[in-house]
Amino acid sequence: MKVQAVLLVLSISYARVYGWGADGHMAVGYTAMQFLAPNALSFVQNSLGSSYSRSLGPAATWADTVRSQAAYSWCASAPFHFVDAEDNPPTSCSVSETRDCGSGNCILTAIANYTTRVVQTSLSATQRQEALKFLDHFLGDITQPLHVEALKVGGNDITVKCNGSSTNLHALWDTGIIEGFLKAQYGNSVTTWANSLATRIKTGNFASSKASWIACSDPSAPLSQKRSIQDDIDEFLAARSTAAITPLKCPLVWAQDSNTFDCSYVFGFTTGKDLCSGGTSSYAAGAQPIIEEQIAKGAYRLAAWLNVLFDGSVSLP
Ligand SMILES: *[C@@H]1O[C@H](CO)[C@@H](O)[C@H](O)[C@H]1NC(C)=O
Ligand SMILES: *[C@@H]1O[C@H](CO)[C@@H](O)[C@H](O)[C@H]1NC(C)=O
Ligand SMILES: [Zn+2]
Repeated sequence: MKVQAVLLVLSISYARVYGWGADGHMAVGYTAMQFLAPNALSFVQNSLGSSYSRSLGPAATWADTVRSQAAYSWCASAPFHFVDAEDNPPTSCSVSETRDCGSGNCILTAIANYTTRVVQTSLSATQRQEALKFLDHFLGDITQPLHVEALKVGGNDITVKCNGSSTNLHALWDTGIIEGFLKAQYGNSVTTWANSLATRIKTGNFASSKASWIACSDPSAPLSQKRSIQDDIDEFLAARSTAAITPLKCPLVWAQDSNTFDCSYVFGFTTGKDLCSGGTSSYAAGAQPIIEEQIAKGAYRLAAWLNVLFDGSVSLP
């Protein structure tokens, strides 16, 4: 109870910097656990240890919880959890590395940084565990459409109503809608939700699209010509110098993918209307399949990422 109350307060006062709320992040981590190849799994379990139940699920929220600690003040102020796309939804959507990550500090560079660090054997076990926890978190954040949007501070400055309560558009996507369907359909259990997502990836309605989730080039290119996560990571690590941190290609493609929802759905609400009431025709009900697929994508990509880093290939079913 007490922990929940604290989390609630934090998620209100730090709304701008929170990605998916705790539930969304944990779902990414728990789902990813079901897709790890042997070496990735053993690194994850040993690195995280018992304080995180040897799982990416509980570890996924760490990157948000440290933001209030003095030792991590450098990451509280840096925009590592998002990329502020200066586009114009719902009319036009786009993400540009030079325009939107111009200072070189955004989620794209953060993912590059921690991709390097998680496999850097000269770092301490603690530093590599932190890199893992950041990847666990940022590969989730990058699938949240409002983490790839500058308009109205990623929707934070848009007040909306949900089941009679006042909230903002960003918080509604981070937590409000998820809490609603978690209670209604998954017994309020993140692990039940994660198991359902994993099953849908393996044999259900996500099975046919999962290959496209981990292909990262021009979305219109045929699948056979797409760049793979393995190409991306292999070239990145081979070219890596100790100096500059240059973003990888895949995270940019993923950011662009999330950002398209800002035009196709997120900003297409009716002002003044309660976005959660109205049953299956409500805005929240329409957002649920988008959110579930985005969380599933984050999980599948996270597993692929760690599998390439530790097992040498995506090794996914
Ligand atoms: C990379 O990560 C380290 C450790 O968290 C941090 O100190 C550093 O500022 C990061 N560098 C960049 C360019 O993000
Ligand atoms: C809004 O209320 C309805 C009816 O009680 C409930 O089914 C739904 O999950 C709620 N939505 C949210 C986002 O809380
Ligand atoms: Zn975050």
